[in-house]
Amino acid sequence: MQGRGPGVPAVEGVPADGSVTPFVDTSKPSVARVYDVLLGGKDNYEVDREFCRRTLEINPQAPLLARAFRQWLVRVVRFLSSGPGIDQILDCGSGLPTAENTHQVAQRINPETTVVYVDNDPMVIAHGRALLEENDRTHFIDADLRDPEALLAHPAVAKHLDLSRPLALIQCATLHHVEDEDDPRDVMARYIEALPSGSYVAISHFHDPADGSELSELARTMEANLRSAIGSGRCRTYAQIESLFGGLELVEPGLVPAVDWWPEGPRLQPPADVEYIAYGAVARKP
Ligand SMILES: C[S@@+](CC[C@H](N)C(=O)[O-])C[C@H]1O[C@@H](n2cnc3c(N)ncnc32)[C@H](O)[C@@H]1O
Repeated sequence: MQGRGPGVPAVEGVPADGSVTPFVDTSKPSVARVYDVLLGGKDNYEVDREFCRRTLEINPQAPLLARAFRQWLVRVVRFLSSGPGIDQILDCGSGLPTAENTHQVAQRINPETTVVYVDNDPMVIAHGRALLEENDRTHFIDADLRDPEALLAHPAVAKHLDLSRPLALIQCATLHHVEDEDDPRDVMARYIEALPSGSYVAISHFHDPADGSELSELARTMEANLRSAIGSGRCRTYAQIESLFGGLELVEPGLVPAVDWWPEGPRLQPPADVEYIAYGAVARKP
């Protein structure tokens, strides 16, 4: 949190249920906390802020990348709630609570919507879950999104989500933290297999056009920076990201830069280059 810096001993998190005491490692930045810094949050440490300062030296517009993902998430949840009328959402890799969280967006449209958040970052588990579990239709589970079978069999999922009715599975800015050796395509195939007909899958991901362009170079530089400090983060090509949908038909406009996925309205200025690293799409399981 604000004010604690490197060298300060790691803190124990606040147990949400009195039995779990997550260990927050403050010796290196974490994905969830860095994302929080970039979104202007306060649930982070000096080590995260220092990493973000270095990132800003590489690209001063880096916070726009985080914002592009987050705003895409808000528009997707709004669409899912108001269009197909999805009223149960599994939000994988929730991150730390921020201004607009999935349950707030969805429940504003349909107060009956149930949201189950998943994350495995100790800071999110310790601190975020209390804020995310805002009402009796909002739940949080500490689980690894790379293990679909365990996640879907989690007692809280079984209790709060009806897997015989359509639901939305959201992976916003999460799967690029799943390494190739953990086979994100196979992970998603297993989720998709388990989803009932009429369900939606929303994925956003770091994109590398891999065409020798300046944008590709920027993607590679951002990836190297992230991996050197956090140890994960893969920019993938259009075909690699598309394959995560397991052949499902994509809702219009398909897989596009997140900023181009049903923007709020006319643009007053062109998006920054870095925003074109965030790609996203939504698919429906027939
Ligand atoms: C970049 S943040 C995105 C947060 C949120 N989905 C959003 O877009 O605003 C990625 C989140 O995924 C979580 N995450 C990464 N790998 C995970 C895993 N294997 N299991 C569960 N959560 C994971 C991180 O802890 C982090 O909170």
